[in-house]
Amino acid sequence: MDIFHHSRQLRKHVESIREAGSIIGFVPTMGALHEGHLSLVKTALKNTDHVVVSIFVNPTQFNSKKDLETYPRTLDADISLLKTIDSTNISVYAPSVKDIYGTTLKTESFDFGGLEDVMEGAYRKGHFDGVGTIVKHLFESIEPDKAFFGEKDYQQLLIIKHLVKHYKLGVEIIGCPIYREEDGLAMSSRNVRLSGQQRKAAPFIYATLKTAKHKFGTKSAKYVTEWVTNQFKKQEFLDLEYFLIADSETLKPVKRKSKNRSYRAFIAVYAGDVRLIDNIALN
Ligand code: PAF
Repeated sequence: MDIFHHSRQLRKHVESIREAGSIIGFVPTMGALHEGHLSLVKTALKNTDHVVVSIFVNPTQFNSKKDLETYPRTLDADISLLKTIDSTNISVYAPSVKDIYGTTLKTESFDFGGLEDVMEGAYRKGHFDGVGTIVKHLFESIEPDKAFFGEKDYQQLLIIKHLVKHYKLGVEIIGCPIYREEDGLAMSSRNVRLSGQQRKAAPFIYATLKTAKHKFGTKSAKYVTEWVTNQFKKQEFLDLEYFLIADSETLKPVKRKSKNRSYRAFIAVYAGDVRLIDNIALN
């Protein structure tokens, strides 16, 4: 498995693979890889010939210094995990902050057509400017044919699609289903920071989303939102930050249901200082 720390070497490597006629896939990550990431890499390997996995904890997308400092960094374990899938057709790009932001790259300010105004964009100021900056930079450096993103970060997925269209970046964006633990907890690199009690409590998030989906069949978005809010009031180890039912394409909060629109419920919850997000398709 080839591992690169500098963009120039990575570019040269990717160019030589592309010249041999290969389709290049890309899975951007912040490391601390888990089965969810591996499922993205496996899907990428099925759909392309060679997959670049980037591992970079991008400081500009963190709005909390503590979250950035405590974000798990496990490069050696990440590489070992990737090797269990395929050593030949995966390349790893693990740059330093200096390699990415050292020379000319500055955090851009983006207009994502309103997609950034709710949820993660509203509660984590500047988050999507950081995500847009790094993802655009990586797309321009690697020039992949297809890039793979998990639906756990559904808002991010829509924002990346918007970015690609707006800047004509020429990469196909493929969204992949949320990967869950057996008890339903969405896989996340932050899960390793949960205490025993928090970990036991956390499956309540997806269980509540599933019941909310059921209720949304007959009740209004307002009713379901109030119901979810009340459920979390009874939880000792989980604090609800937001629950929102929104249009799956525009992410505009739903006021009145329409038969020909599709909707999704989104949730962010704190377990101590660990922030967990999840979402579910409602119809
Ligand atoms: O989803 C993530 O892990 C990050 O937001 C991404 C896309 C790798 C950008 O840093």
